[in-house]
Amino acid sequence: MELRELPKVLRSVLTGVGGYLPERVVTNDELAQIVDTSDEWIRERTGIARRHRAAEGEATSDLAVAAASKALAAAGRTAADVDLIIVATTTPDLTFPATAAIVQRKLGAPIGIAFDVQAVCSGFVYALSVADGLVAAGRSKCALVIGAEVMSSLLDWTDRGTCVLFGDGAGAVVVEPREGEGTTADRGLLGFALRCDGTKQDLLYADGGPSSNRQVGLLRMLGNQVFRHAVVNISEAISAAATDAGVAVADVDWFVPHQANLRILQGVAHRCGIDEVKVVTTVAEHANTSAASIPLALDAAVADGRVQPGQLLLLEAMGGGLTWGACVIRF
Ligand code: COA
Repeated sequence: MELRELPKVLRSVLTGVGGYLPERVVTNDELAQIVDTSDEWIRERTGIARRHRAAEGEATSDLAVAAASKALAAAGRTAADVDLIIVATTTPDLTFPATAAIVQRKLGAPIGIAFDVQAVCSGFVYALSVADGLVAAGRSKCALVIGAEVMSSLLDWTDRGTCVLFGDGAGAVVVEPREGEGTTADRGLLGFALRCDGTKQDLLYADGGPSSNRQVGLLRMLGNQVFRHAVVNISEAISAAATDAGVAVADVDWFVPHQANLRILQGVAHRCGIDEVKVVTTVAEHANTSAASIPLALDAAVADGRVQPGQLLLLEAMGGGLTWGACVIRF
């Protein structure tokens, strides 16, 4: 009798990446006209030079659809192939339905699974890990994982400590199952570490919500305290994700961090022994686009040829919750 060889392992492979930034660019000098700040202060403390801002009437789902369409084209897929959509966002179009459901309708994707993940700036890493659970279990053949935000809608434009830090945008990846050997040479998501410490809510939150005060609320942050937690927390998650993947951080080809503040991502790279030349930084041009920042940075590095198939990527993020996490992917 002939023995049928079973697949060794299913891996969740990133087969396409896409990004979208709204047309309007807002410079630091423009912000200095509405709050007491300066281009020099913002650049020096954060590394941010400018950010994009969604047009009036441009919703998170519009940004998400634009990024997803590019990711599908890069993967050689169409909306008709998509059976799972996960949108990581803190700025949904509506309280419900999920922005993912709106994206499904706007893309013209068929009936399938669609839901949002809310982990604020860590949303993309969380969403990718959730997608991996479905894709690697054989329950999705073509997934879209999208980080999309209109952060400008959540900002207090009288608070110089927060309104200068954020931008709008969306990034997306197509994730498909591929057979692997079960080794670190396989393409796909190899390991991750996710964390949340709900006791740190007061450091970064929105002061509104449907069941508390029936309002959307505005972003509130104790920036210097968030900063203090960032480097230590993220470094621990990076180490745990590398262990989960079975790789050494030194083996990573590209570090694609959440883009909140240049000083944070340089501090993390330094603490983890990652060479500065391996760090993908877009914070100067995009500012902090929350859940969109990692896929936008990845898109930039794929588009300019830095990130190549087969290379080892390390992604990390931290945000409200506090949430944080990291994942290791062979691209
Ligand atoms: N322009 C000018 N001055 C500003 C300013 C701005 N945009 N924002 C704050 N300041 C002032 C403060 O009012 C304070 O003034 P004071 O000393 O007279 O009270 C001074 O700068 C120092 O404030 P502090 O908050 O201690 O500055 P900082 O060096 O920590 O930098 C952040 C502020 C927000 C840039 C920094 O804390 C940060 O990046 N934190 C992490 C935020 C983050 O990444 N959040 C998202 C996580 S997803």
